[in-house]
Formats: sequence, C-alpha cells, structure tokens
Amino acid sequence: MEALQNGEEARELLEAQAHVWNHSLNFINSMSLKCAVQLGIPDIIHNHGQPMTLSQLIAALPIHKSKTIYIHRLMRVLIHSGFFAQQKISENESEEEGYVITNASKVLLVKDNPFSVTPFVFMINPIFTKPWHCMGDWFQSDDPTPFETAHGMTLWEFAGREPKLNQIFNESMASDARLLMSVVIDKCMGVFKGLETLVDVGGGTGTSAMAITKAYPDLNCTVYDLPHVVAGLESSNQNLKYVGGDMFQAIPPANAILLKWILHDWSDEECVTILKKCKDAIITSNGKKGKVIIIDMVMDNKGDHESVETQLFYDLLMMVLFNGKERNEKEWAKIISAAGFGDYKISPILGLRSLIEIYP
Ligand SMILES: C[S@@+](CC[C@H](N)C(=O)[O-])C[C@H]1O[C@@H](n2cnc3c(N)ncnc32)[C@H](O)[C@@H]1O
Repeated sequence: MEALQNGEEARELLEAQAHVWNHSLNFINSMSLKCAVQLGIPDIIHNHGQPMTLSQLIAALPIHKSKTIYIHRLMRVLIHSGFFAQQKISENESEEEGYVITNASKVLLVKDNPFSVTPFVFMINPIFTKPWHCMGDWFQSDDPTPFETAHGMTLWEFAGREPKLNQIFNESMASDARLLMSVVIDKCMGVFKGLETLVDVGGGTGTSAMAITKAYPDLNCTVYDLPHVVAGLESSNQNLKYVGGDMFQAIPPANAILLKWILHDWSDEECVTILKKCKDAIITSNGKKGKVIIIDMVMDNKGDHESVETQLFYDLLMMVLFNGKERNEKEWAKIISAAGFGDYKISPILGLRSLIEIYP
C-alpha cells in the first residue's frame, strides 16, 4: 500500500474524500425536501405561528408513531439547507428551541400560497430521476436523450400516454408561471403594451396567459400546446382560448408570440425551425411591428456559486430530458439570426432567467 508523504497531503486527501462524499450524497438534499413537502412540514410549522417544539411538530405530523424518533434528524438537514431555522421559545425558562419557517419557505413551500413551487418539488420522482441513472449508458449509445434510454420514448410522448405524468409536469409548470408572470407583469409592463393578440406557444394549461389577460383585459390570448395538454380546457374569459397543435407544423397568427421555457427544451436546429414558424405567425397591427417574447436563461457564469451551479444543473437537465440546452448570449444571437430575425433585446430581470424580445 502506498504511504502518504506528509500530514498536509493526508489532510487535503481527506478533505477531497469528503467533497466526493458530499457530491455522491447530494441527492439527499432533494429527497429530504420532497419528504418535507409530502408530510406538509412547511404548512404545519407555518400554521403554528410561533416557534414549534419538536414534540408539537411530531404531534401534528401525519406519521406512524414508530417514526417519531427520526423527525429531528430530517429537520437537521432541512435547517442546514436553509428551509427552516431554530429559535428560542421566549417564555420558556429552559431556553428550549422551536422550529420556524424561513421567509422564503413561507412563500415557496407552503402549499396554499399562490406562489408555492411545491408542484415543482414533486417532479423529484422516479420517472424524472431514472434518466440520470442512464446518463453513462446514453453517452455510449446513439439514443437521442437519457430520458429515451430510460423510458423508450420522449418525455412529450410519455406525458401524452400517462395522465399522472402529464398532470405532475403541467402543475409544476403552472406553479412557475404563477410566480414568474407576476414578476414579469410587475417589472415589464411595457412588454405587452399596444399588443392586440398574443399566442403563448407551449403555454401549458394557460397560467401565464391568464395572468396576462388579467393585467391587459384588451389583449386576446391563445394558449397553444400539444392536444393532450389542452384537452378539455375551456376558459370562462372570452379573451383567452385554447388551441391544440404542433408548433413545428404551424403557429396561429398574432402580434406577439410568447415562448416561456420552450426553446431550452430543443436543439439549435429545432429552435431555428420554431422561431421561423413564429416569424411566419407574427402580424403587424396598427402599423406596430410584432415580436417574439422569450423567457429563458442566458448563461453568463457571473452569479454567485449557487446561481452558476443552478444554471449548469438546468443545462444538464435539458440535455437529459429533451436534448435541449441553456444558451449564452452568443448562442442566442446565433439562433435568432439563423431564423431571420433582425434584432433582439435581453433584459436580465427575472433572477436566473431573462426576458428576450426579438424583432423581425
Ligand atoms: C417546459 S414546458 C413550458 C410550459 C409553459 N410555457 C411554462 O413555462 O409554464 C414546455 C411546453 O411545451 C409544450 N410542447 C412540447 N412540444 C410541443 C409542440 N410540438 N407544439 C406545441 N407545444 C409543445 C409542452 O407540452 C409543454 O407544455
């Protein structure tokens, strides 16, 4: 057996081993978060309204009595991840501490909050995690995506056949749309100004379009998505309608086309095809030129460690699920110009994502 040269070398090696451990076990963060949401821990602690002792939490949780001894260990990980914190219970002489929910978790992890992203957490499910186990095999095969290596069909085909997956996916997208579109409408009022018609291509179950028509009652919106996504959906709002179809075939005409979280699902060649279809669909009204409004990431490697890592994660997520990718500005400019658009404007105002307006 080879001996380590000195103490410094041994220390570095053990640190590096811990780094490998950390990365090998990183899925524990995802699974602990999913478990917390499944058990309703954020809702229970939030509804308690004051620091909640372990015994109060255990009493409120829908768990088997044999499992009560494990809860503090789950909570330790969730506190470490920043979803909860501990606070002294003031009137308590023993200085006992109670669990509190952090401000961000109050909004994002409490199920009834309008901006809750809990449906996104439920995407941590074997249908979506299995492709990651297949990534190595995928690299050694000619399969288009690890998702297809795992399931033998594309995610869109799978969602068309499995109503449960279709529902999980659409709810997850809708939860993001509720949060993000409220920011878009708040920060980017000018984007939709003067438009008479808009098509939300790949608009899912219509959450973004509903938010837009509420803020702009004179704007007529069409939600255009695959037939299995919009099947049975009807709007009570006469400014909003659902149309089923395939964006690679044709897109209904409008002054503006919205592509929220669409292009990152596709390769450069497929994006150029979609964008050309968008260009064909744009109509000029009252002398005002139309446009395409894209909401997606623009990779820049400039954020803090976690932001950069999250963008890198998304890039691989797109590769694994769809053969898509996250793009930097140069890559965006390339597909925009290849589709025949003359100009674009990037507004990096949506956290990790940007609003990109492109003009024919
Ligand atoms: C990542 S989701 C984004 C949903 C929505 N825009 C949002 O951000 O909440 C992509 C959407 O594209 C739709 N889609 C996939 N292929 C499509 C196609 N060929 N034509 C129209 N829509 C499609 C999916 O059904 C899905 O709703």
